[in-house]
Amino acid sequence: MSEEINIGIINISDRASRGEYEDIPGKAIKSTLEEYLTNDFATVYRVIPDEQPQIEETLIEMADRHKCCLIITSGGTGPSIRDVTPEATSAVCEKMMPGFGELMRSVSLQYVPTAILSRQTAGIRGQSLIINLPGKPKAIRECLDAVFPAVPYCIDLLEGPYLNVNPSVISAFRPKGS
Ligand code: MTE
Repeated sequence: MSEEINIGIINISDRASRGEYEDIPGKAIKSTLEEYLTNDFATVYRVIPDEQPQIEETLIEMADRHKCCLIITSGGTGPSIRDVTPEATSAVCEKMMPGFGELMRSVSLQYVPTAILSRQTAGIRGQSLIINLPGKPKAIRECLDAVFPAVPYCIDLLEGPYLNVNPSVISAFRPKGS
């Protein structure tokens, strides 16, 4: 029997949640994961406003109820008053994984000098890895291509499902002997 794999995708945007913007980032995350992964997986998908309690509730629901091994957020990572995604992420996580944000910012600097304005981070709640991405649609691929090679092994360490990637699209690094 193959393991069930659930992945959470949350577009955090006041305007997308009101229907004023099309949900391009959420769709871009889903299609990128479909390119990367050869496993079948189900997505739990939400478009919500930049409200910290609602972001926390959604992260908790995806981690605890839907048992998502991976939860990817987009948006709300910048310095604006309404940007609270990193605060919500750290509030629900037991462990922070600062290397993800460090790598994404450093890679993003090759594309835009404003990459340093993103406070994006990552963390672990239970057996779920939560990763924040900026809200710009083009940032999705720029950031995910950088960090995804470490994601399958991180999920192995959390005793989650074994993720297989398409090596012609992305690599997955698992240390020898693991
Ligand atoms: N990172 C990448 N890879 N590409 C981008 O276009 N935009 C930056 C930054 N990081 C960007 C990026 C900008 S302009 C901002 S304000 C911050 O992400 C925060 O974006 P957010 O508030 O939509 O999360």
